[in-house]
Amino acid sequence: MNKVVLAYSGGLDTSVAVAWLREQYGAEVITLTVDLGGGSLKEGIERGAMSAGASRAYVVDARETFVSQYVWRALQAGAVYQGAYPLATALARPLLAQLLVEVAQKEGAEAVAHGCTGKGNDQVRFDVAVHALDPGLEVIAPMRVGMGLTREQTVAFAAQRGIEVPDARQTPWSIDVNLWGRSCEAGPLEDPWATPPEDAYAWTVRAADAPDPVEVAIAFEGGIPVAVDGEDLSGAALVERLHALGAAHGVGRIDHVEDRLIGIKSREIYEAPAAMILHAAHHALEGLVLSREQLRFNRFVADELSQIVYDGLWFSALSRDLRAYAMSSQRVVSGEVRMRLDHGRAYVVGRRSPLSLYDKNLATYEDGDAFDHASAVGFIEIYGLPLRVEAARHGAVGKHHGAAWTWTNPLLASLPTAVTEPAAER
Ligand code: ARG
Repeated sequence: MNKVVLAYSGGLDTSVAVAWLREQYGAEVITLTVDLGGGSLKEGIERGAMSAGASRAYVVDARETFVSQYVWRALQAGAVYQGAYPLATALARPLLAQLLVEVAQKEGAEAVAHGCTGKGNDQVRFDVAVHALDPGLEVIAPMRVGMGLTREQTVAFAAQRGIEVPDARQTPWSIDVNLWGRSCEAGPLEDPWATPPEDAYAWTVRAADAPDPVEVAIAFEGGIPVAVDGEDLSGAALVERLHALGAAHGVGRIDHVEDRLIGIKSREIYEAPAAMILHAAHHALEGLVLSREQLRFNRFVADELSQIVYDGLWFSALSRDLRAYAMSSQRVVSGEVRMRLDHGRAYVVGRRSPLSLYDKNLATYEDGDAFDHASAVGFIEIYGLPLRVEAARHGAVGKHHGAAWTWTNPLLASLPTAVTEPAAER
């Protein structure tokens, strides 16, 4: 093997992986570190990589790409895994894989490597994405193929080789961060009944410690947030602005038992202030400008796409087609939403759009009502027709007898007794 390009975070495991890959494969190791915001880029990362034995250390700021190509796509589609997890880690993996492949191709490397274990989703996302982009590249995951050392062994391995270990403080957590969210798992969180210790959270204040509520106005164009309180911002800057505001108000804590792709249930703590504010705002704006049928169909797409993203299939054909649908559905999702951030909650307090389908003259109960009440009679006549036919042919449903529904089934009409259903509706 000539060269390996390793996704390098600067943590203990990937630092040791540099040396391990060199020793095991006799390969030159090139590291790639990607800044995805949220504190994902550690200081002195190049020095760390070189000290661990890398021959070259790439550092790429991909924050704007991450937001425009991945985060906004997920937001437009309303993709939230199992209704809880805004997919921060899952969305970043295909971008990391893409950058790994680009560097590998540029360097003429035969393999790429990552520090994932054999138990999580991330290994699947990396491997599948890399092979979708370049089937000729080998993917090596040292943790999966022999490097699986205990923490003490890893520290000893590093010490023997004089590898600087940037942050040796021991915490029980396994953490991943980028600007869309922070995930924290393991340690005391492994008991799903246990209240998360306060130090599992690093971004958000406790709701009780939040200052007085504030309001924030978010403007969208084509389903993409473009301004906060009237100020136009780039994607990454906008997310960072809402992150800071939300975190200060205790918004964005998520406690979720989720289903991993590999079949394990796992308890995760997330902090995603910007994601929670933006998903709620986007959803509210859609409610104003999309038809009922679009809203209903979009929920299927959101659910499907969230699982595709979670499952590491970003580069699949179905993913591409669903994203294209979602983008098309966003062409009228322009307008403004006012959100209140109030002690851990972010809720909608107002929305407006030049493309709004809301018509005050139709909705009002006051003067100026333009709705034709009389024509409702004809509408209901036809709308209710199939049910009246059913009742005529199959017998009327629901003669109320005290607490129970008594109902005569015509198929059983020759039998002497009626079928009595339990009073399930109480
Ligand atoms: N469970 C989440 C996911 O699969 C987050 C995993 C992040 N990794 C971590 N070490 N906390 O997307």
